[in-house]
Amino acid sequence: SNRTFTMIKPDAVKAGNIGNILQMITDGGFKIVAMKYLHITTKQAEKFYEVHAGRPFYGELTQFMSSGPIVAAILEKENAVADFRKLIGATNPAQAEEGTIRKKYATSIGENAVHGSDSDENALIEGSFYFSGLEQF
Ligand code: GTP
Ligand code: MG
Repeated sequence: SNRTFTMIKPDAVKAGNIGNILQMITDGGFKIVAMKYLHITTKQAEKFYEVHAGRPFYGELTQFMSSGPIVAAILEKENAVADFRKLIGATNPAQAEEGTIRKKYATSIGENAVHGSDSDENALIEGSFYFSGLEQF
């Protein structure tokens, strides 16, 4: 597929990096198909991250993701999922390559500035969690 889903996480929003991160995304060749700024509840974060329920960091992750506003967006580019994960870098910013979004703006493995879908299937599921069919058209 040519689409992926991203969130600019609460740490990056709080730090004032929405603009810088969107610039890196568009410089990376991604087109913004849909975008919204919102503050989700802990229950909503638990639903979104259902696949991680049971992982030791699930509570910390869902608390963090509901701790402040985020930016959610659907992005379009050829090979979107893999290319976007390359642009954001490793989950742990200490292992992220130079020039990646997480290298620049993430502070820890938990507070790592951005989300990127890990498969075409999840990109569709995650995008549809935040956006209606009409908003994705
Ligand atoms: P996403 O694009 O956000 O899904 O990151 P990822 O695919 O690189 O990582 P993964 O899906 O394995 O984990 C989801 C999110 O959980 C990560 O982005 C982190 O925010 C958080 N996370 C992962 N591992 C840890 C950890 O060991 N501790 C904490 N506090 N958070 C973690
Ligand atoms: Mg993931």
